[in-house]
Amino acid sequence: MPLARSLSVTSLSGLEDWDEEFDLEDAVLFEIAWEVANKVGGIYTVIQTKARLTAEEWGENYFLVGPYVESNVRTQVELIEPTNPVLKRTIDKMNASGCKVYFGRWLIEGSPYVVLIDVAFSAWSLDTWKTELWELCDIGVPWFDREANDAVLFGFLTAWLLGEYAAQSEEPPHIVAHFHEWLAGLGLILCRYRQLPVATIFTTHATLLGRYLCAGNVDFYNKLADFNVDKEAGDRQIYHRYCLERSAAHCAHVFTTVSQITAVEAEYLLMRKPDIITPNGLNVKKFSAVHEFQNLHAQSKHRIQEFVRGHFYGHLDFNLDKCLFLFIAGRYEFSNKGADIFLEALARLNYLLRVNHSDVTVIAFFIMPARTNNFNVETLKGQAVRKQLWDTAQTVKERFGKKLYESLLVGQLPDVQKIIDKEDFTIMKRAIFATQRQCQPPVCTHNMLEDSSDPILNCVRRIGLFNSAVDRVKIIFHPEFLSSTSPLLPMDYEEFVRGCHLGVFPSYYEPWGYTPAECTVMGIPSISTNLSGFGCFMEEHIADPSAYGIYILDRRYRGGRRVSRRQRIIQRNRTERLSELLDWKYLGRYYISARHMALAKAFPDTYMYEPNEPTSTSGFSYPRPASVPPSPSLSRHSSPRHSEVEDNDEEERYDEDAEAEKDRKNIRQPYALPLKNKTSPLGANGNGNG
Ligand code: UDP
Ligand code: G6P
Ligand code: GLC
Repeated sequence: MPLARSLSVTSLSGLEDWDEEFDLEDAVLFEIAWEVANKVGGIYTVIQTKARLTAEEWGENYFLVGPYVESNVRTQVELIEPTNPVLKRTIDKMNASGCKVYFGRWLIEGSPYVVLIDVAFSAWSLDTWKTELWELCDIGVPWFDREANDAVLFGFLTAWLLGEYAAQSEEPPHIVAHFHEWLAGLGLILCRYRQLPVATIFTTHATLLGRYLCAGNVDFYNKLADFNVDKEAGDRQIYHRYCLERSAAHCAHVFTTVSQITAVEAEYLLMRKPDIITPNGLNVKKFSAVHEFQNLHAQSKHRIQEFVRGHFYGHLDFNLDKCLFLFIAGRYEFSNKGADIFLEALARLNYLLRVNHSDVTVIAFFIMPARTNNFNVETLKGQAVRKQLWDTAQTVKERFGKKLYESLLVGQLPDVQKIIDKEDFTIMKRAIFATQRQCQPPVCTHNMLEDSSDPILNCVRRIGLFNSAVDRVKIIFHPEFLSSTSPLLPMDYEEFVRGCHLGVFPSYYEPWGYTPAECTVMGIPSISTNLSGFGCFMEEHIADPSAYGIYILDRRYRGGRRVSRRQRIIQRNRTERLSELLDWKYLGRYYISARHMALAKAFPDTYMYEPNEPTSTSGFSYPRPASVPPSPSLSRHSSPRHSEVEDNDEEERYDEDAEAEKDRKNIRQPYALPLKNKTSPLGANGNGNG
């Protein structure tokens, strides 16, 4: 039965919706990735945030395929019987042949169906499949590479699933299979080798060689054209992985990647130019009034301040109201993610703040998961001490309140000398004694397994930022992703980001980089680089990114620029306004276009690809904001002695909503100008020269 399309892809404000017409007939879509219901990094975010839009488009015919991981399934997936009879027969048949395949609904927005494959359960087939792989294409996977072994199992099992689905279908099916990243690539290679009726798409979110070369101190971008790719992969003992990745890219009907910068890299390292760039979007929740997300910032900030009170107990000699929270977050790739640059910059910032006798304190959080054996005692103690002081204050307050009440009941004002008695003082003194501390507040919140070789800790040791009282920059390394159930900092990542002042992501290697994009939609300014997909995307589409709180470094940190509270408030408003540019409602069209292209290539008799479908995002530019003040540098005080006024300027009247409206009016009009193609708000056409 033909699939009724009900999808309307929203464009940026001021532009018409994109109502593309493409009859999907009876096609089914399988989207396959190791990070389906399995969080590792940004690929999880792509799949999880895009699910709603794709489920709206494909309805009952959309299935995500990922690995079965019991702990994830327990918290994220509701296991059910397969709804689609062909898929039910497919799964039953596989399970009867010695596999363990589960079906369920992933409990996220859009509630997509998931097929989860227990690869460990099929490990008994590993040797047979590795031999088959070797005989098929001379790719030999060494026994010790656990990830590659998983990729072999996952690849053979997903190809089995798709082949079985085709075999179980009564009519010849039209299957689109979208594979993400090299870990899922083998399934695609096998689909082509077995000539399954499947239109294949391969999206790479990085290249293996790019990641490895960059992490190894190589002048990557200048030497891109010169690498002997086979040798480089061999030297790093990733030749088999590289071969899987490169073959998947070449076998795919449609090859895509997440940014222009990675497209160029893929052309040199994987030897295929991507057909379409599929930038990463987010699910954007717009607030009706600007102050709503400003209030969320204030609420989250207070919770971070509470944590800081505990962490620095006994050393709280700085003004929390003049404290700025900076953070870096993501998978722990020290130099690729720019943690090295961030630490160097913090050392310099510390020096500048100290020599200028600044009263501002900067607290820099590093949220990057490493191997640990749980929180350390000193850190937990900090929160316990804070709680105890809070309880003490409450006890004394209650005793005080009771005495005050009793005094008022008999018509007398209380004797202020006596209202806090000796016992109260004893309680308070005891509590204060408990806060005395012999050591500095810890840099790291956990016990690290590889403490002596950890790159962040070693760098901290080298630059000497040990959270001492004289330092104006303090460091907190939290080597675990955040969670609202943590006993230490009970906030989820989103809440934490909202409470911070700046996300710092000075990556050297970053195909996209969700973390600054997430900051943008939450109205938090960020630093990224012109070596990250996100940074380049924003630079391309926004006339003056820094005016919107999007600082894009040329890998050089320019610290020391003062930003007042008022400017920070304006900046958050501006930043958040860009969020529509990053919404799947708008960016989802590139995925749609990739699927149409693949269907038309695989089944040319049934499907036709319209050459004017969007394939690249070039051509659109977001203008400079019209309202004041556009950037901190223009409204900077001329003399450094003005530092005391830092936060008094919040007294100035500033009508956030009116300013936002003023900007919005100014922004809308130019949208219409640069467009060449009505169907694409970025003015892109198939040639990418819109
Ligand atoms: N993240 C998270 N919890 C944290 C810190 C980060 O879930 O405590 C997520 C973050 O929301 C982002 C992802 O980790 O979506 C990192 O993705 P990114 O594309 O920035 O980098 P990758 O790790 O994929 O290279
Ligand atoms: C938001 C709140 C204000 C608060 C401000 C703090 O705008 O609505 O009440 O004063 O945040 O901003 P800051 O940048 O100092 O955290
Ligand atoms: C990869 C990249 C990251 C990107 C993510 C999602 O993990 O390292 O830059 O944002 O995939 O595409």
